[in-house]
Amino acid sequence: MISTRFTEAFGIEHPVVQGGMMWVGRAELAAAVSEAGGLGIITALTQPTPGDLVREVARARRLTDKPIGVNLTILPTISPPPYEDYLRAAIDAGVTILETAGANPAPYLDLLKTHGVRVIHKCTSVRHAVKAEQIGVDAVSIDGFECAGHPGEDDIGGLVLIPATADRLSIPFIASGGIADGRGLAAALALGADGVNMGSRFLCSVEAPVDEAVKRRIVEGTERDTQLIFRTLGNTARVATNGVSREVVRILDAGGDFASVRELVAGARGRRVFEEGDLEAGIWSVGVVQGLIRDIPPAGEIVRRTVAEAEDILRRRSLAVTPV
Ligand SMILES: Cc1cc2nc3c(=O)[nH]c(=O)nc-3n(C[C@H](O)[C@H](O)[C@H](O)COP(=O)(O)O)c2cc1C
Repeated sequence: MISTRFTEAFGIEHPVVQGGMMWVGRAELAAAVSEAGGLGIITALTQPTPGDLVREVARARRLTDKPIGVNLTILPTISPPPYEDYLRAAIDAGVTILETAGANPAPYLDLLKTHGVRVIHKCTSVRHAVKAEQIGVDAVSIDGFECAGHPGEDDIGGLVLIPATADRLSIPFIASGGIADGRGLAAALALGADGVNMGSRFLCSVEAPVDEAVKRRIVEGTERDTQLIFRTLGNTARVATNGVSREVVRILDAGGDFASVRELVAGARGRRVFEEGDLEAGIWSVGVVQGLIRDIPPAGEIVRRTVAEAEDILRRRSLAVTPV
């Protein structure tokens, strides 16, 4: 058992979280992670309406009675989804743990606190982590440059970002980005984190609702097979390297604006990758950690073996420094 401030604060057995993942964070995956003692997270915006989110949480509830969270990703868009309605849906569904990401969650904190919801805010810099603590979130998830999705613009890897965060925060925090096994968990704990959040590792699990071709590509992929797109737009995203991501980089590097790549990066195309297994249909998120992912196990097994391997490493390391 690895008990930390995070496991105690959120009432879970193991310090392992499955981060919100668009099109992936559905009931089966989240429930499998939670049932194994980690914290599974359903992605709110994957559901077409707030009412569908209520039904998805209810589906997960039939699969496990352990804590389950909901992710709300707040992104600046021209016509934003009804964020507050999704939050109210999560509250109505009885959710007590929310992962926020993408923007400052301050406008929603009063509503969430009133209903006893604890908030994990995911961010990519120490200054945003400090700000999150100041506005009253319950925990931070600090996402390093290695991560799938949006790593921010500072390019600080976990080896520095995690201890730099530990030096500045009083509330519990988990390390995110570049972690796929017990070595990553043991390292994150050694660097001062209270647990880990994994995305790519759970994307490549039995319960992830994506086509097998995607999972096989992750197993085949190396740490060199991701690409940073939208750098010139100040909205960097790490995605799998394919013909589409290469074309996006080429157009933007040549001075193109968002409108010139809008069609290539459309969410509907990325969704086709996951649903139809056409790896060239659009862009899809994965982290450099795919270089460490070599199988497609059940999500619960990922939780169990990550913890067992970390325990073993921590035990062996502490024996190594015990005087005889
Ligand atoms: C397919 C996929 C979709 C993702 N979608 C979201 C999302 O909608 N919101 C979010 O906050 N993070 C999203 N993420 C990021 C993960 O929650 C997590 O922070 C990240 O994957 C950690 O890095 P790792 O992949 O190296 O473990 C996504 C990641 C993946 C792989």
